Amino acid sequence: MYKYIHRTKGEGKPMDWGMKNRLSRFIKPATGHTVMLAVDHGYFQGPTTRLENPRATITPLIKYADSLMLTRGVLRTSVDAENDVPIVLRVSGGTSMAGNPLSNEGLTTSMDEALRLNACAVALSIFVGSAHEKETLLSLSELVNEGEEIGMPVVAVTAVGKEMEEKRNARYLALASRIAAELGAHVVKTYFCDEFEKVVNGCPAPIVIAGGKKLETEMDAFNMTYEAVRAGAIGVDMGRNIWQHDHPVAMIRAVRAIVHEDYTPKEAKDLFDSDIKVPAKVLECPPKAPTKAKSR
Ligand code: R5P
Repeated sequence: MYKYIHRTKGEGKPMDWGMKNRLSRFIKPATGHTVMLAVDHGYFQGPTTRLENPRATITPLIKYADSLMLTRGVLRTSVDAENDVPIVLRVSGGTSMAGNPLSNEGLTTSMDEALRLNACAVALSIFVGSAHEKETLLSLSELVNEGEEIGMPVVAVTAVGKEMEEKRNARYLALASRIAAELGAHVVKTYFCDEFEKVVNGCPAPIVIAGGKKLETEMDAFNMTYEAVRAGAIGVDMGRNIWQHDHPVAMIRAVRAIVHEDYTPKEAKDLFDSDIKVPAKVLECPPKAPTKAKSR
């Protein structure tokens, strides 16, 4: 399936080769879906629980991720350049949990740097409805202008920050996602919510969901992933629900099975349960062939 490797989900002018190739590196053409691993949390949270040592967290998960979303600092220090995992480079920041407000982000990393680091996309947060709405939306527009020129996809994250936690509802997320798409984002990353199909249907760019704070059980994460994909998301850009779990490799493998192989949450849980009985080293070998192939 190649349905999302286009400018939009609908009609659009043909995409340039470089842009299409970069998107195809992390949105897998075989399924049109993606499992992005988010490990950029330190850019405003510092040493987040279980991401204190990024290399230790990332290394066992790399081979199961369709991309790593991270900052240039963690990329250079904690990921070996020999890896061929596609990089989605976080290029916004400038705020911290210790300061206020989180929405006051700017661009931290140039497009030249993204090219030098061989990124397959750049990512920034937009804070729709915040005091810094305009600045973050203009930063998105600036990135899209540059990205279109050089063939670099832009992932817009509809961030809510600690000030706007209550805004994780379909009305707000549909508004923010649509604005991101209107300004030219190639992929929109947002949160899952009730009536999520309203968010997807109102957004002409492909959508991935963040996982958010670690949920109580792995089934909660599997259900969320399943419902998001069923509503039309092309996958996840998930962090804490994978690497804050006691069994991160089993978690990402189960999430992959839902996103790429149409597993139900129950089937994903069965895979998870069988994986955690296997010594970690065995699971850390290259992924086995799909255990279950369903036609889409
Ligand atoms: C978003 O802005 C963050 O930096 C993370 O990339 C995002 O929240 C995804 O991670 P998680 O699944 O932990 O929410």
